[in-house]
Amino acid sequence: MILVTGATGNVGRHLVGELLTAGAAVRALSRNPATANLPSEAQVARTDEMPLDGVTSLFLNPAAFWGGLGDLLPRAADHGVRRVVMLSSAAALDDDPSNELASHHLAVERAIEATGMEWTFTRPGEFATNTLAWREALSAGEPVREPYAAARSTPIHERDIAAVAAKALLTDDLVGGKPVLTGPEVVTHPEMVELIGEATGLPARFEEISPERAREEMLGRPYMREGLVDVLLRLRAQAVDAPVEPSGEVERITGRPGRTFKEWAADHADDFR
Ligand SMILES: NC(=O)c1ccc[n+]([C@@H]2O[C@H](COP(=O)([O-])OP(=O)(O)OC[C@H]3O[C@@H](n4cnc5c(N)ncnc54)[C@H](OP(=O)(O)O)[C@@H]3O)[C@@H](O)[C@H]2O)c1
Repeated sequence: MILVTGATGNVGRHLVGELLTAGAAVRALSRNPATANLPSEAQVARTDEMPLDGVTSLFLNPAAFWGGLGDLLPRAADHGVRRVVMLSSAAALDDDPSNELASHHLAVERAIEATGMEWTFTRPGEFATNTLAWREALSAGEPVREPYAAARSTPIHERDIAAVAAKALLTDDLVGGKPVLTGPEVVTHPEMVELIGEATGLPARFEEISPERAREEMLGRPYMREGLVDVLLRLRAQAVDAPVEPSGEVERITGRPGRTFKEWAADHADDFR
């Protein structure tokens, strides 16, 4: 039995589908199983109950554990869970101690390593789904306002992250691996706005603003703390001169090319309208 945490999320929902298609037994967790809308072939349970009986492998998405993991890992080891596949982050590559995205993911990676269970840490970079934050502006005919228009990105489709996670759960190929996952191409945010415009038919415009103004706006959003805002802005600034190159890992691991942002925008056109 494979236990999927964050099962209703961007990555989790596709992962549940992939695992079921491969014939695996899946227990999918949500804070609210009644509204989770997960496939009937999956057992659905509450995240806070964390039923571990019969579970041999665990997909761990930190987004489902904002309050911390509690005793999840020692309990999993006690229940005979043999493998943990974690949705970590490419941020874990940054050894700057002020990068809280890095320290948050590294702390979970280290806690998993300390259990002695088998592990894979998938380390994606920028999710294409982050652009859903532009929905409000785009559907209202407003421009997307951001700093660093020249920053280059390698946005990854959540389906590709799920495909790699499925491989890590279903085969032994990725045990002990920390694959850095990116999309297959380099694009800028203004280009991504344009691609969303083409996919949706919405008038899509990008307007560059100063980093200072962006900082102010970001601090006004829920869940945004000063340290996190500073890291996010620093990463965008770095992506102007030293962008992340496509890693090629999705194709190497899954045998199919990673999905482009154009494909992502077509898949999500309805989400913007
Ligand atoms: N965004 C990026 O660019 C990026 C880059 C690298 C790594 N990552 C990693 O990927 C993770 C996000 O993955 P994702 O997009 O698949 O996750 P997600 O869709 O944001 O969330 C997954 C599920 O977690 C549950 N959840 C959400 N907020 C919660 C909260 N406050 N407390 C408890 N449960 C909560 C929800 O399920 P229920 O409502 O059903 O309980 C949600 O469907 C990040 O946390 C980070 O670790 C992200």
